[in-house]
Amino acid sequence: MPQVHSSGHKAKDCRHLFGRDRYQISAGVMGMIAPIHGTGLRRTGGTSSQDRTHTYKIQLEKLGIVTISDFFCAANDIIRPFEVYDPLKGNAYPEVAFDDVMSKDTVVLKWLENIWVWGFCFVKGVPVNPESTKTLIERIAFVRHTHYGGFWDFTADLTFKDTAYTNEWLGAHTDNTYFTDPARLQLFHLLSHTDGTGGASLLVDGFAAAKELAIQNPDFYDILATSRHPWHASGNEDVCIQPSTLEPVFKIHPETNAVYQVRWNNYDRAPKSDWHPLEQRKWYRAAQAYNKLLTRHTNEIWTQLEPGTALIFDNWRMLHGRSEFTGKRRMCGGYVNNDDFISRLRLLKFGREKVLNNLGNTRGWKSSDNPYSIY
Ligand SMILES: [Fe+2]
Repeated sequence: MPQVHSSGHKAKDCRHLFGRDRYQISAGVMGMIAPIHGTGLRRTGGTSSQDRTHTYKIQLEKLGIVTISDFFCAANDIIRPFEVYDPLKGNAYPEVAFDDVMSKDTVVLKWLENIWVWGFCFVKGVPVNPESTKTLIERIAFVRHTHYGGFWDFTADLTFKDTAYTNEWLGAHTDNTYFTDPARLQLFHLLSHTDGTGGASLLVDGFAAAKELAIQNPDFYDILATSRHPWHASGNEDVCIQPSTLEPVFKIHPETNAVYQVRWNNYDRAPKSDWHPLEQRKWYRAAQAYNKLLTRHTNEIWTQLEPGTALIFDNWRMLHGRSEFTGKRRMCGGYVNNDDFISRLRLLKFGREKVLNNLGNTRGWKSSDNPYSIY
């Protein structure tokens, strides 16, 4: 145990790899790990934070559990594969046409792949009514119900005591941090905006900022991935929703070791009481650094939604916000569950037979023709 424990802490850049239970390493099994070159773990590669390709070899064959070889934790690998839309370049947004989505499964696949790769996608030519918008979402899966209802169609009237139902400025955040299983997708369609201006929509890529943070300061990345927090939704009298476990800002996937989910919502983060002042200081410094990246204007994608164009995004990755507005806006949309989105995308991309033939083949995630490369 001390060998791995101390190695994990010496190897600052990658120590997050050993700070949690991902490999089911416990006191009972650690004694069976075969040391490599007498150090327990071998580290090779660059040492600067810019060049964080370190290879760790752990031999667990004797345990009959798993073999981990050539495990990389380069900055490029700490987040699942993705592309970043650069707002400064002004390239065309990923988009698909409503009629094509409604009539061709190939375009549904293109739509979902855009969301997987870029984190968001626009749908053009949507009929300006809630019924068509709901039908559009249902091309992916059923709309997820929450304590706010299912498919929503609302104006800024504070029906629900949540900042989303006001006309105030809303900083970039992810939704549903208070659920054990936050909704994966969220779709917005602005049906009308009369007698006023404002209300531009903001998207910020939480993965891109996490990657930047890991390169800038691995310790900050580490603390946001390991320090778990309480989250809650308690605005209305009849609910006080909290996830089953305290959850970190960056959630690490147990098979791929990549960040696959971001929780970032200052409105929903509950005070954490049982932590050491040292951890508190570290966490707030890390949060401040991450927030600085999230609010840097070069990372902000601002768009003005208009009737007929729906925006859908990956709520496990993209933060969203809104500038304040005047007048009356009518907005509709809904959430889609992670499992149903991934099921639809995998089946369309790989075909049912391949998906069924790879059930549980999580070790094949590195291969782009394995359904587990999408998660
Ligand atoms: Fe929101």
